[in-house]
Amino acid sequence: MFWSGAMWTPRFRHRADPSESNSTGMAGVMKGQAMTAVSNGSPLVTWHVDAPDEAPGWARRNCRELRAGVTEHGAVLVRGLKLRDSETFAAVSRALADELMPEREGFAHRDEAPGPVYSSSRWPDDQIMCMHHELSYAHEFPALLILGCLTAPNHGGCTAVADSSAVLDALPSAVVDRLETEGWLLTRNYGSTVGLPWAKAFGTSSRDEVERYCRAGGIEYEWRGDELRTRQRRPALIRHPVTGRRSWFNQISFLSEWSLDPDVRDYLLSVLGPDGLSFNTAWGNGEPFTADLVHMINEAYARATRREPWQAGDLLLVDNVRMAHNREAFEGDRQILLAFADPVRARLAEVI
Ligand SMILES: [Fe+2]
Repeated sequence: MFWSGAMWTPRFRHRADPSESNSTGMAGVMKGQAMTAVSNGSPLVTWHVDAPDEAPGWARRNCRELRAGVTEHGAVLVRGLKLRDSETFAAVSRALADELMPEREGFAHRDEAPGPVYSSSRWPDDQIMCMHHELSYAHEFPALLILGCLTAPNHGGCTAVADSSAVLDALPSAVVDRLETEGWLLTRNYGSTVGLPWAKAFGTSSRDEVERYCRAGGIEYEWRGDELRTRQRRPALIRHPVTGRRSWFNQISFLSEWSLDPDVRDYLLSVLGPDGLSFNTAWGNGEPFTADLVHMINEAYARATRREPWQAGDLLLVDNVRMAHNREAFEGDRQILLAFADPVRARLAEVI
């Protein structure tokens, strides 16, 4: 089966047409009322703004231009906005998004604040969180990610991005063709000791609600005492909801056992058994991925990676379909907020 762009139903107010962007590119100057927007030589396009008094109002006034910049470049960093608290970040996010969505089927704990906006995932500080597209396995996923930095770490901790079109170009055609035909399979165990409990991941303590969610999203489910096991097959490539480009959009490598630290993987397998990991991925027909394949995907991401160290007050907009993102290891306090924006819904019949 070929998954075409017809399966996605975007609901955008800001349907930024790439031709609408007035940017002159990575090395150029962006026109704008309240910004001096230039590339500062970093690999990320950065808009330097002059510390506006009222960040949400600034965001509203410059929304169209910012969104056009994201469509053109995949990600835009705004420096100088001086975001200081979650309320301001939520207001800025609402100004830039058509709609903010809650996270469902998360894989790690986040704190939630009104908006809804979230903290970054709890993940060991000294371990990298590999490149991924947010919620690529969900029935509804965000087209846009909005991130804000309240506290920058002393060292490391970038949210780096990678253009997945480069990843797609780097992979052997036989691999891409098979994934395009079969998709990929995600298996999850929502446990009480390791990983996120199902009530937290689905935002409800009602088994009936979880089952309704799973049926609506084409997710097979099985209760095992107080724990839940799920299986879902998803496309590995989709059409971009705005540009229509064929896009690599999945979490094959990030959620694979082969991306875990080898010692951690060995320990978890010894404790939980071969089918007991919190998450794992496979070819669409259930055949396991090899370590070599997963490492090849992660290396392709690494070659496409662009990074800029966080500074307190930064705002980062990321096209979640075109660009993967990661979280690098860090030292010191790090407070990053995240909003999931502009949900895109998959039409079930074409997913499964
Ligand atoms: Fe993420």
